[in-house]
Amino acid sequence: MDVYELIQKRRTIRRFEQKPVPKDLLERCVNAARIGPSGANLQPLEYIVVSEPEQCQRVFPHTAWAGYLPDWSPSPEERPTAYIFILTNRNVRASAPMDVGIAAQSITLVALAEGVGSCMIGSLDHKALRQVLAVPQHCDISLAVALGYPAEQPQMVEVTGDSIKYYRDEDGILKVPKRALEDVLHWQRYTEKITE
Ligand SMILES: Cc1cc2nc3c(=O)[nH]c(=O)nc-3n(C[C@H](O)[C@H](O)[C@H](O)COP(=O)(O)O)c2cc1C
Repeated sequence: MDVYELIQKRRTIRRFEQKPVPKDLLERCVNAARIGPSGANLQPLEYIVVSEPEQCQRVFPHTAWAGYLPDWSPSPEERPTAYIFILTNRNVRASAPMDVGIAAQSITLVALAEGVGSCMIGSLDHKALRQVLAVPQHCDISLAVALGYPAEQPQMVEVTGDSIKYYRDEDGILKVPKRALEDVLHWQRYTEKITE
């Protein structure tokens, strides 16, 4: 599958099979992130890989899931089986959100190429996780990527009306609205959309 197809296929996965993600794949995910673009090539990011079931159990309560799906989070039978935490080393750079985003997408795509789904998680209990992960003072936890073999197949749909909120349809399939290409693409210069 080429990169464009992989990107089209990728959807955030929040239900996972209880099967471990191979350690060598997790290492390749981090390696791909490590060698990615970095502003001024400062490379302020570091990574904590969590793969042991007991440590996954300690981490999970400090992650927040699917804000648009009221009162839902993965049940114990569908929780991630690995996490990669992306840290920003403040001794190198105070913050590097773009580096973090690029690293996260690299992780996601390398994993997906081998059938492993993921969910980026920005909504974290930082204080609790710093303890669980023994994060030193000079590092911030910038983002988590939860990983595992998918136990759901969300579908992309076009935005209709105003709502960009994902939802589950009557069969429980997660639908993820995306704005139409013609609504976001401008050629040569910005052109206002004509609204009736
Ligand atoms: C920076 C960032 C933070 C996110 N944080 C969370 C989160 O805390 N919890 C969650 O369930 N999903 C989180 N997501 C996943 C988004 O909800 C998801 O990407 C969005 O709904 C679009 O779905 P898609 O990834 O399938 O295209 C995050 C995504 C990004 C890029």
